[in-house]
Amino acid sequence: MTILEIIEKKRDNKELTKEEIDFFVQGYTKGEISDYQASALIMAIYIQGMTKEETANLTLAMAHSGEVLDLSSFNKIIVDKHSTGGVGDKVSLILLPLVASLGVPVAKMSGRGLGFTGGTVDKLESIPGYKTNIDINKFVKNVENIGISMISQTLNLAPADKKIYALRDSISCVESIPLIASSIMSKKIASGAQKIVIDVTVGSGAFMKNLKDAEKLAKEMIEIGKLANRETVCILTNMNQPLGYSVGNLLEVKEAVFALKGRMKEDVKDVVLELGAYMLKLSNIEKDIKKAKESLIRNIENGKAYEKFIELVRSQGGDVSYLNDLENFEESRFIEPLYSKEAGYIYEINAKNIGKLACSLGAGRIRKEDKIDKTVGIVLEKKVGEYVAQEEILAYIHTNNSKDLEKAKKELKEIIKIRKEKVKPQDSIIKIIE
Ligand code: URA
Repeated sequence: MTILEIIEKKRDNKELTKEEIDFFVQGYTKGEISDYQASALIMAIYIQGMTKEETANLTLAMAHSGEVLDLSSFNKIIVDKHSTGGVGDKVSLILLPLVASLGVPVAKMSGRGLGFTGGTVDKLESIPGYKTNIDINKFVKNVENIGISMISQTLNLAPADKKIYALRDSISCVESIPLIASSIMSKKIASGAQKIVIDVTVGSGAFMKNLKDAEKLAKEMIEIGKLANRETVCILTNMNQPLGYSVGNLLEVKEAVFALKGRMKEDVKDVVLELGAYMLKLSNIEKDIKKAKESLIRNIENGKAYEKFIELVRSQGGDVSYLNDLENFEESRFIEPLYSKEAGYIYEINAKNIGKLACSLGAGRIRKEDKIDKTVGIVLEKKVGEYVAQEEILAYIHTNNSKDLEKAKKELKEIIKIRKEKVKPQDSIIKIIE
């Protein structure tokens, strides 16, 4: 068997065997297959697709490309959460300490920003001192001691996914159902999740632009979960406009802190409560979704969720004085308001365009090796459906470069669309697939 034969087969739309998929995944992980050959195969998969069986085999090959954590010693069900990616998506920062405060053990491996979407690891690292690359023993110890740890994919868990994920990002092959499904499920299997809740985002700021594709991706992940004996629930959520009001690493951490202290934007709250309720259900802590939501709200109101976040940050080396007084955080040099030229209702804030704009200010990477600027981004004052008066502030641009300002203002003015007629606010939860 050679990699050339495998590329040729997929190029010609033929089904790959388990042995061929294993050969590619192992060879690429060890560095025996070059980036350019892997790129050709990934592009062929992107164009031709994969059968359900191929996707399942790719998932298992990537999950077993490194260590597979066994967390069965916890004697508690490990329920993990993942998102297919979005703009302004700070859900993990709020949801995971919240469910941990209710007794769900959280052993979470997150990713960095991908394309125009943000990543939880970049957000956590914007808290001074927070280490996302702690070793596996410390990771497990933190889950044992305080019930939560949130790390990056630096351990030897699903290393094949780490390489393939970065490669996909650099060759424009992210938006593929088999590649996303196998990427997410391989990480979840490797990190010891027994049950999984997935936020499948749909819309302009998501990799799945329409409901049909999002449903297909959800069903594929649920099927892989069945094969691997990991019960999986997918919650389809709206990503046509950014989630919450801030987009940018530190700005989103601040929003998460406000949310954990009880000031949570409605759309973020809807997503946090729905995902959280299903996490509590799968953990057997609270089977009734309505009661589960009440427990979640209670632990925000009584401060337990925020305390858990503080414990998490402290246990991973972060300086919690920044969280207790958000004024301590560094800010960008320029914070410029954008005023509305007209009165009316907001009818569109294209999430992808906001994500791209935030990236161009330095909040994301254009190339893998780029350093991100944690202070920059966009803070929206208005969301779809809201009324804005003439000369009222629509948003703030946070940047460190005065040269970016005029261009960013012009772009933002075009992204936030206003009309005279009333507009219905958008629902956050689209569908639940179990
Ligand atoms: N999140 C992942 O972990 N992988 C993808 O491919 C897309 C989003």
